[in-house]
Amino acid sequence: MNVLVTGGCGFIGSNLVKYLRKNRPDWKIVNLDKLTYAGNLENLSEFEGDPKHVFVRGDIGNQELVEHLMAQHSIDAVMHLAAESHVDRSILGPEVFVATNVLGTQRLLEASRSRGIKRFLMVSTDEVYGSLGPTGAFTEQSPLQPSSPYSASKTSSDLVALAYHHTFGMDVVVTRCSNNYGRYQFPEKLIPLMVVNALHDKPLPVYGDGANVRDWLHVEDHCAALTLALEKGKAGEVYNIGGGAERKNIEIVKAILSLVGKPETLIKYVKDRPGHDRRYAIDPTKIKRELGWSPSQTFEQGLAETVKWYVENRSWWERVTSGAYRQYFETQYRAR
Ligand code: NAD
Ligand code: DAU
Repeated sequence: MNVLVTGGCGFIGSNLVKYLRKNRPDWKIVNLDKLTYAGNLENLSEFEGDPKHVFVRGDIGNQELVEHLMAQHSIDAVMHLAAESHVDRSILGPEVFVATNVLGTQRLLEASRSRGIKRFLMVSTDEVYGSLGPTGAFTEQSPLQPSSPYSASKTSSDLVALAYHHTFGMDVVVTRCSNNYGRYQFPEKLIPLMVVNALHDKPLPVYGDGANVRDWLHVEDHCAALTLALEKGKAGEVYNIGGGAERKNIEIVKAILSLVGKPETLIKYVKDRPGHDRRYAIDPTKIKRELGWSPSQTFEQGLAETVKWYVENRSWWERVTSGAYRQYFETQYRAR
């Protein structure tokens, strides 16, 4: 199978490329990534010279380029992860979120339609459902009530992908996953940011009262679910993915401080995120029952291993925070 992975140099994308090379070694992966601030080709340096991983720097919105790549590599399926992904950035500047997540996705769908791609996996998010009260969990039937420009743009792209199924008969599967954590996450997101700040003895900024709840899933469990959804999901269906690990933000921040041996006096409550969703929780019954997926890691074990990875891979996040990671593409690829 030849698969076009978009956003393969981001957090989930680079974990997915590693997962696929290990667990689907026969597949050829064409990794299309624009290398925005969130794309780090260095994450995949182990695949230099690997004929089964072809990196192409480019925009998902460049339909001509995408169609050319699909023809050149005889692409069978698309795993679409490329996106602007950070809620706080979408509040500061929504435009690029609409450009990439909505228009970019539509162009990618159009290229896939014109090339007769056999399956299109749309990687969406639980944020399309908006916020929950203290009880209950999102099912695939929950109303779509996105709150932020990020989640509104993801909801739009999720629905455009489903419209390509209903209208044009394209084979589209949509997944909606909860918060991921693990190695290679850009240190603007809660867990890596808190680890990095704690290691620098800098304040840990907790939004509002710290009681917002997220449902956490290890990124490798997400990659396993995406692979199953690609292989076994039914066309036109949506699958929720979640780890059943609801935690308040403040509980996570305290756990991180304890794991790195730093005092809770570093916690600093700051102004809340505008429109901050209170609680997310996923009901993953459908993907468990229909595709046989289940998460393999507990949150406590996964968090401890993840924190250890950031402690032991200081050079990775120092190169990210200093901007040095951008030089890798210049030296390894641009010169060719
Ligand atoms: P990320 O920000 O770490 O990575 C995004 C990647 O997309 C980067 O490599 C970036 O360079 C690339 N990209 C951005 N714009 C592009 C464009 N126009 N053309 C080509 N490439 C482009 O994001 P992530 O956290 O790895 O999330 C990946 C996907 O999973 C996103 O679609 C996100 O909405 C979804 N998702 C994320 C989570 C999570 O917790 N991180 C949970 C559910 C769903
Ligand atoms: O639910 C899935 C979504 O999870 C994905 O679709 C998004 O791409 C991904 O970024 C993530 O969104 P969140 O907004 O939930 O993640 P973030 O790490 O930004 O924040 C997690 C929680 O922690 C949230 O309640 C806000 C809070 N927070 C975050 C930061 C960065 C803080 O309290 N302080 C912070 O400095």
